[in-house]
Amino acid sequence: MRILSRNFRLQDITIMYFTALGALMVILVASYQAPTNAFNVSDLKPSSSTPLLPLPMPFRMPLDPRGELHLSWNISYATQEVFMLLKVAELRYGVVLGMSDRGELTNADLVVLWDSGTKSFFGDAWSDSEGRVSLDSQQDYELIEAKQKPDGFYLLFKRPFSTCDPRDYLIEEGTVHVIYGFLDEPLTSLDKLNLSRIHTGVQRVLMLRPDTPDPTLPPGLQTLDVLSPNIFIPNQETTYWCFIQKLPENMPKNHIIMYESMVTPGNEAIVHHMEVFECSPDVPDVPEYSGSCDDKMKPSKLNSCRHVLAAWAMGAEAFYYPPDAGLPMGGPGSSRFLRLEVHYHNPLLISGRRDSSGIRLHYTPSLRRFDAGIMELGLVYTPIMAIPPKQHSFYLSGYCTSKCTQAALPSGGIYIFASQLHTHLAGRGVRTVLVRGGKEVEVVQEDQHFSTHYQTIRVLRKMTKVLPGDVLITKCTYNTEDRSGPTVGGFSITDEMCVNYVHYYPRTQLELCKTHVDPGYLQKYFNFINRFQGNDGCVCGDVGVTEQYSQLQWDAFTGEVLDSLYSTAPDLDALQPVDRTSLSWRVGQAARPGGDGGPGKTSVPLRRRSPAQQPTTDTPSVSPVWGGRAPNLLQDKCVLVLFLCSRNSFRLL
Ligand SMILES: *[C@@H]1O[C@H](CO)[C@@H](O)[C@H](O)[C@H]1NC(C)=O
Ligand SMILES: *[C@@H]1O[C@H](CO)[C@@H](O)[C@H](O)[C@H]1NC(C)=O
Repeated sequence: MRILSRNFRLQDITIMYFTALGALMVILVASYQAPTNAFNVSDLKPSSSTPLLPLPMPFRMPLDPRGELHLSWNISYATQEVFMLLKVAELRYGVVLGMSDRGELTNADLVVLWDSGTKSFFGDAWSDSEGRVSLDSQQDYELIEAKQKPDGFYLLFKRPFSTCDPRDYLIEEGTVHVIYGFLDEPLTSLDKLNLSRIHTGVQRVLMLRPDTPDPTLPPGLQTLDVLSPNIFIPNQETTYWCFIQKLPENMPKNHIIMYESMVTPGNEAIVHHMEVFECSPDVPDVPEYSGSCDDKMKPSKLNSCRHVLAAWAMGAEAFYYPPDAGLPMGGPGSSRFLRLEVHYHNPLLISGRRDSSGIRLHYTPSLRRFDAGIMELGLVYTPIMAIPPKQHSFYLSGYCTSKCTQAALPSGGIYIFASQLHTHLAGRGVRTVLVRGGKEVEVVQEDQHFSTHYQTIRVLRKMTKVLPGDVLITKCTYNTEDRSGPTVGGFSITDEMCVNYVHYYPRTQLELCKTHVDPGYLQKYFNFINRFQGNDGCVCGDVGVTEQYSQLQWDAFTGEVLDSLYSTAPDLDALQPVDRTSLSWRVGQAARPGGDGGPGKTSVPLRRRSPAQQPTTDTPSVSPVWGGRAPNLLQDKCVLVLFLCSRNSFRLL
């Protein structure tokens, strides 16, 4: 955008010119309407016109792995519409673009350009649950321009976010599953189109994004490239490549204020997503490594590198921190080791391709006013939370309670400016809301078409201010229709998570603010269901929760009771007396005077209990806070908060 702005005037004029031209063409074309209500696109043959300036579309994405089809788009929030420019490198007899709930070819909203052999048409269509394609009675995709240029065929059209046609897709914030297809033969009429017989594919995009212009960067920035070291992309469909990069020794604290992707030219359609993680400062020496992240022989210390510094996914723009904040890198208490993870998606099994893709961090030693931080909201990674099999939509919610925010947030509150949602394979949707005074006041982030295959840090259109005492509820939706056994919470890709990593400032010591239901109530659930199912001889308490879940006979009733347990059983409030005891006890043990809290410094009055009230059994071990920073008073209190929020700590990251 910055580069383009210099040519803005010229482009402005160009846009006006082409809009006028497009409008004229639509008028001309519309008067040649076919018997259907599709537009007749008169001329798809290559024209000999001179190359045109690229249209100023800020968002772009390759759709197919060969890179033959590119979608670029812009958004007008004022008129609530999306302009899409589709470029087809080699147009044969047409192209299909569509949107559907999860990328299915059925029940999809389609826009089709097709050539009957003598004439070409453009129309808004849909496919039914059997995949039969028909033209919509209401045409909501408006063709603006169709033009052959030297580098491909360009189709410019627009569509409102929401049409009132129930057969159309509603374009919302969050992931959109875009489907595409190529027509290699003439199509006499649209109802002869069978999507299962043409070459199709799916690509996920974040269609709606903030449309604010990129901020200008201050002078004196330094860059650090975290790139894969000219590797050969393995000729297999999915590779996660891991690479360890060292920061210079004794690097002082800097602020990362922007980062962007560096994708090796030619590999744009293969490099699917990339993340840079900081290793745990507790692990002093992470060995050099460049290889598959799934290699059984990889050094185990790589597992300590899980603190996200930067994340990019196909189609994402450069990421800018708010003007007041930067992400700390270097300095005491931080690790010298970064882990780059690149996901290569190579379904065509291309071999011999080299790649040096990665992320460029822009950082500055002139620290900004606030450190930015990342807080993990949602559910604790524990099998206590499970999803019954054969569920179309099952919901799990995790809370960042008012007691947690009260204890850990500064009185002025924090600002959430970006968010990264996370579930595993069964996840279908994630929604985090802000609750104040018992009322839902704001949706922080919502994705109703979430896919674990498309994770990126999303900048919020509007920052969310969270005050002490507010509650953040993260609710995830799961689909387990294809599973025969229960799915429990955990780390494996077939287990589930419900997480929203929110990026915010000023940073506090609160890194996890999550819950799960009271395990005691869960035992009551097991007892009840087992008695109901006649399993009297059950040894419920003696086996793990996962085992108990899998021993149940899963039917609609078992699932419904679990759902109502989750929505009614206490998460925290009932636990608090217990937790407060153990935590107060811990604070009593570990509190150190003179802690430095930074901008997140708050004073949290904690009642200490007398030794007589200390729990004598079942004193849980302290949840490790990521980063293992030097303990101080505030941190102890925050550990306390963490503790309250995730009592049964399995493995907290
Ligand atoms: C989007 O692109 C179209 C076509 O190039 C242009 O007419 C329109 O002004 C652009 N809108 C925005 C909001 O940038
Ligand atoms: C489309 O083609 C597939 C595969 O050839 C076939 O099974 C299906 O019945 C066809 N659908 C329609 C609606 O004709």
